[in-house]
Amino acid sequence: MLNIVNLQTMKLRLPPMAMYIHIPWCSRKCPYCDFNSHERVKKIPEKKYVEALIADIKNDLHLVQGRKLSSLFFGGGTPSLFTGSSISEVIQSAEKMIGFNDDVEITLEANPESVNPQKLKDFYQAGINRISIGVQTFSDEQLSLIGRTHSSYSAIKAVEMAKIAGFKKINIDLMHGLKGQNVSGALNDLQCAISTGVEHISWYQLTIEKNTMFFSNPPKLPDSQLISEIQEHGAQLLQSHGYEQYEISAFARPRKHCTHNQNYWQFGDYIGIGAGAHGKITLNNEQTIVRTLRTRQPNNYLETKNKGEKKCISVEISQRPLEFMMNVLRLKDGVPMKYFSERTGLHQSYISKIIINLKEQGLMVDSEKRLLTTPLGFRFLDTILDRFV
Ligand SMILES: C[S@@+](CC[C@H](N)C(=O)[O-])C[C@H]1O[C@@H](n2cnc3c(N)ncnc32)[C@H](O)[C@@H]1O
Ligand code: SF4
Repeated sequence: MLNIVNLQTMKLRLPPMAMYIHIPWCSRKCPYCDFNSHERVKKIPEKKYVEALIADIKNDLHLVQGRKLSSLFFGGGTPSLFTGSSISEVIQSAEKMIGFNDDVEITLEANPESVNPQKLKDFYQAGINRISIGVQTFSDEQLSLIGRTHSSYSAIKAVEMAKIAGFKKINIDLMHGLKGQNVSGALNDLQCAISTGVEHISWYQLTIEKNTMFFSNPPKLPDSQLISEIQEHGAQLLQSHGYEQYEISAFARPRKHCTHNQNYWQFGDYIGIGAGAHGKITLNNEQTIVRTLRTRQPNNYLETKNKGEKKCISVEISQRPLEFMMNVLRLKDGVPMKYFSERTGLHQSYISKIIINLKEQGLMVDSEKRLLTTPLGFRFLDTILDRFV
């Protein structure tokens, strides 16, 4: 338990700043997906939506506080349903209004069935320098069980086309723990991803979320023992091919980590624009941290266009240690110790007793300089996080 009596606050420092841009439409809703994604029924109001995104950026300019963007991430939904010129308009507006760091990373999520060579070239020319392809599995049988509209062949083609279009940074999203999947099925998916030569693989365990078709009609998934075996063998396979696990679900070749996601996990700031987008902002002068949330329904969102409407919720002092730890301990190498005070505005003594106790139990590494879990702690992250509730 946290000792709130000994409350000491410190000056918050502004962390790096990123931008998340949500595109809320998909060609079909997948049965496992609880993201704010809506099956397109008629023509997507792309032009109006781009105008709304640009208006959102304008309305959030006061949150930037002199920083430039270290990364942008077009997520969804299916951002690859949009044209290169729409994406380019948003990127250019963000650059003009806020500015980019020299090594800015700009990612776009793409579904294999919604890309072709020209479209990928257009995205590349628009300034996208990292593409994340949602493959999920290379088994055609599994793809159909999880309601995907692409085939294994089109997934491999999409990666090849992305390379030809010029992309040097490519991620493949895969899911494991699918119905009827065994260790060799899961490893085969990883092996196929490795064979494409991409430098980043996100490997998520399928979870059954409320408000999804799988929640009302759940498939029989592998038990926890089998999941552990899949994860252990999978991590070994990836490691033996030079992909280091740097976060629970993220594997990358050396120095090929995703800057954008790493910023979330390091408790950095981000502006969230688009329907249902979340943001997290440190307000230096007010010594507060706020979370922002925009209207979820695309139509409602479009109606509030130009008004910059968003919910702002302050992250109370008592919530900050848990929120901070929930993010940073997902990273295998943790973060520098000083980030705790700089990014929560709380003195280190606020958590020191808990940390000492976790070190004694072998769940956290005995280091003065970094906050990080031991391999045991990494496996039992929930046990660690319980102490910060
Ligand atoms: C924003 S989503 C979708 C990106 C893209 N539209 C697609 O489907 O390929 C990003 C990733 O989250 C993962 N994901 C979505 N729902 C999931 C679930 N219920 N369990 C585990 N992973 C999930 C998928 O791997 C997906 O590619
Ligand atoms: S998984 Fe991707 S394609 Fe499927 S509904 Fe969700 S966002 Fe859309």
